[in-house]
Amino acid sequence: MDSKWSPASWRGRPIEQVPDYPDPEALESVEARLATYPPLVFAGEARKLKKALAEAAEGRAFLLQGGDCAESFVEHGADTIRDFFRVFLQMAVVLTFAGRSPVVKVGRIAGQFAKPRSSPTERQGDIELPTYRGDIINGIEFDEASRLPDPVRLEMAYRQSAATLNLLRAFAQGGFANLEHVHQWMLSFIKDSPQAHRYQALADQISETLGFMRAIGLDADSTPSLRQTDFFTSHEALLLGYEQALTRVDSTSGDWYATSGHLLWIGDRTRQPENAHVEFCRGIKNPLGLKCGPSMDADGLLRLIDLLNPANEPGRLTLITRFGAKEIGKMLPPLIRAVEREGRKVLWSCDPMHGNTVKAANGYKTRPFTSILEEVEDFFAIHAAEGTHAGGMHIEMTGKNVTECIGGARAVEVEHLSDRYHTHCDPRLNADQALELAFLVAELLRKERVNRESRQLAAG
Ligand code: PEP
Ligand code: CO
Repeated sequence: MDSKWSPASWRGRPIEQVPDYPDPEALESVEARLATYPPLVFAGEARKLKKALAEAAEGRAFLLQGGDCAESFVEHGADTIRDFFRVFLQMAVVLTFAGRSPVVKVGRIAGQFAKPRSSPTERQGDIELPTYRGDIINGIEFDEASRLPDPVRLEMAYRQSAATLNLLRAFAQGGFANLEHVHQWMLSFIKDSPQAHRYQALADQISETLGFMRAIGLDADSTPSLRQTDFFTSHEALLLGYEQALTRVDSTSGDWYATSGHLLWIGDRTRQPENAHVEFCRGIKNPLGLKCGPSMDADGLLRLIDLLNPANEPGRLTLITRFGAKEIGKMLPPLIRAVEREGRKVLWSCDPMHGNTVKAANGYKTRPFTSILEEVEDFFAIHAAEGTHAGGMHIEMTGKNVTECIGGARAVEVEHLSDRYHTHCDPRLNADQALELAFLVAELLRKERVNRESRQLAAG
């Protein structure tokens, strides 16, 4: 590690996507206060996640990462968290059971507040205001007062993250995630959908399997992994003052860890190697994600890998590719080849959301479900052709019955978008669509495993 790194060394670097706070001193005093608050996660947990991600990087597990594009203060409530967690568990169980693959569960939650934007201002009619940058920075309402960055929001986001994480920990460890409840994770509004029937059938099979296991003496009391699960949190490391305030030395290892979430990722707009976001992230020991969009080339990627994972540690770095269904075929293979040629250990994960955003005729930002499926299928096909592991999926989703992405088995049409379009930023998969995607990925995972096993057999 370059000795010049410190939790504040990013401040000397050029930086993108910074909000313009009207009162920098007020910001400073909030950051100073945050630096005295308890950590949200522990270094040992981040290390545990890194280990699990290393398994995925080496082809033995699959990463499921998902949640809101942007968490919001108004949507903060127990039901929202519970419904998200239920769908997430359903997806994970589909991938584990139908795909026969251990699943590393990571939410975009309990800290996913700050948003990079393509324009610093937004114009409506004659009025131009600062753009909305996420609830941790300013308000979404289109008026001058709301759009002014307000440091008080950092503390609100911290407290919301703590409360969210508290409930998630209770759900994951306190019985809700018990596999014996696999039927109860079904949300009422998807009960009659085609996905619900498929899920029901799978849940029946799991119950039978559990019955058999119980008969031979293995049950939830004797086997912790049947009654609880590990669930980790993640968000984009965008608002670096907030991240710095929550970065602490781990007393057992002496290393620096961001304690705002287990995994932090660098967004596609802030991954310039000389700039602040890469500088901050390279010094923390958490597992990291790096978004790779169409402007990423092989040399640029290798340079970033050198900076972010100089020890070539598996599980440290997850490359989250987000090219879009049209571009992935051209963009992904050269990156995989470069990484393989240089022997770099990374986990490849597919974000089929951010390259497939379109504007519908009625003005809504949406994503066609068909493009999302297509990008995921291509991701698996490309990795199969290159002999590498399609190791994960990164999605924007919610447990609510929203109408934000078009398509799916219970088709959301363009004219439905206005019915329940609640996102604070990008369009999310609803519970039905998320489950449908999980079934597709389970099939792809199963195929990948069968191919690998037959190759191993052939190789003797
Ligand atoms: C996001 O994940 O919400 C996001 C902004 O992604 P990207 O950096 O890939 O554009
Ligand atoms: Co998004």
